[in-house]
Amino acid sequence: MKVSIIGAGNVGALIGMRIAESDLCDVVLLDMIEGLPQGKALDLSTAAPIVGHHRKITGTNDYKEIVGSDVVVISAGLSRKPGMERKDLLKKNAHIIKDVVSKVTTHSPDSMILVVTNPLDVMTYLAYKLSGFKLQRVFGVAGVLDSARFSTLIAQELNVPVSQIEAVVLGGHDKTMVPLPRHSTVSGTPLTQLLSKEKIEELIAQTRETGAKIVSLLRTGSAYYGPSASAYSMIESIIKDKKEVIPTSAYLSGQYGLDDICIGVPARLGREGIEEIVELELNKEEREALNRSAETIKKSIKELMKEIKY
Ligand code: LAC
Repeated sequence: MKVSIIGAGNVGALIGMRIAESDLCDVVLLDMIEGLPQGKALDLSTAAPIVGHHRKITGTNDYKEIVGSDVVVISAGLSRKPGMERKDLLKKNAHIIKDVVSKVTTHSPDSMILVVTNPLDVMTYLAYKLSGFKLQRVFGVAGVLDSARFSTLIAQELNVPVSQIEAVVLGGHDKTMVPLPRHSTVSGTPLTQLLSKEKIEELIAQTRETGAKIVSLLRTGSAYYGPSASAYSMIESIIKDKKEVIPTSAYLSGQYGLDDICIGVPARLGREGIEEIVELELNKEEREALNRSAETIKKSIKELMKEIKY
């Protein structure tokens, strides 16, 4: 098995590290900057004897190296700087994704594509449309990160281990994301029975702002430890065929009453990619929030298609 990562910045290189150091499979790190992927691959390879894994890590500027990949991760593109919203990256990253996808389809036509580049749901949609791959084989990393952030805040608030929390966040990877307290549990008890409405609203607001908070603290870019762990969990479920249900930006064709859009929903991930989209029962309020989130993404998709003259 082989995973190729396009874009050897902080997120890309850390995904590579997590894959190799978990002994999951071989990794190719590709970047257009000469020396960068080779340097990071060399550095990571020299850690192998210490960490004790046997995986090959290749750094390259040449797309020929991605031939035969099972999964291609797209983490190329610009990240946010303080004061920016994810959608401010739309135009520049759209052209980058367009170029990357055409090379991926040429050199690794049987792979799956996992998108990490922001604005996430819109870039996932673009990769799906341009690749011509089956919809089960193109998806994006978002909900797992937003859910993890929600879990972290719940754990701090209730002073319980994160391992006892199952938090669910649907919708876009932006301010319209839809954390679902009714479907989020602590040792099986719904959050709505453990915290007041006001407290839950406060945690949801903080969940929405975590990405921007990290950007404003780092000043030079956006988060990478959480995003790389999120991508890794999805890749692991696919490569090991674990079939875990993981919040995923997926192309919908009628599920949740939505069509022709990529948006965060729980999806079962295995060797075939998205093997099932799980439809949670939503109340009126939750459904409306999801629809509002979908409208925001649709607006961006329109802008995107104009930008790349699709
Ligand atoms: C975040 C960025 C990477 O949420 O989207 O941290």
